[in-house]
Amino acid sequence: MTRDDFYASPFGVIYSSYMERPRVSRLIGRIVWGGDSKAYYDSMSAVEEVDAGGVIVDCPCGAGPAMRALRPGVGVRYVAADLSPSMLRRAHRRAKARGLAEVQFLDADATDLPLESGGADLFLSFWGLHCFDDPAAALGESARVLKPGGRLVGCCFVRGDDGLRQRLLIRPGAGDFGQVGTAPEVMSWLAAAGFRPPTTSRSGPMLFFDARLLA
Ligand SMILES: C[S@@+](CC[C@H](N)C(=O)[O-])C[C@H]1O[C@@H](n2cnc3c(N)ncnc32)[C@H](O)[C@@H]1O
Repeated sequence: MTRDDFYASPFGVIYSSYMERPRVSRLIGRIVWGGDSKAYYDSMSAVEEVDAGGVIVDCPCGAGPAMRALRPGVGVRYVAADLSPSMLRRAHRRAKARGLAEVQFLDADATDLPLESGGADLFLSFWGLHCFDDPAAALGESARVLKPGGRLVGCCFVRGDDGLRQRLLIRPGAGDFGQVGTAPEVMSWLAAAGFRPPTTSRSGPMLFFDARLLA
């Protein structure tokens, strides 16, 4: 199995299923990771704040849990991008089941999105940065596709300031973990990409961020 197909595994099936169920997902988050992912589900409301005609990029979209905040026919362009064919298939099925004809799927790397520069109003980066080999480059790419003043909303696991459990579980290069940064490192990657200092919150190893690109 290639790294890109990691989510074709039974883990990927289970992960995709529980992420659609906030109560189960939050419980797993608390038991396994020692953090509450409530802020992740709450932050999806950013999707509802984009006006008709706006552009939303969801990368990595995974099986599409953030599409739960998208209502059919609202008139936004919603681009869902991911490297995993199995995740894209699941996301596609979910969009179809929900009547979300406006979702456009891209089999693409977060560091090289086939999207025009400066076109997006909102970029969703949920639980992706800790999976990427080059998260700083992925944030640079999100800055490239956002309009000046555009919004980045996301979350990721971070290393550091945690207990033994997190140090054992969150190991760069193991499982689907890529280059996992510390919270200060994520802040510096955001700044380097051209984002204003974000609003952040933490729960255990989970870092939630909401940032605007400099206008
Ligand atoms: C932990 S999942 C998060 C998915 C989704 N955003 C969510 O909230 O459940 C990480 C996702 O990142 C994708 N991924 C990993 N590396 C990637 C890359 N370089 N470019 C695009 N997607 C990538 C994986 O295929 C997987 O779907």
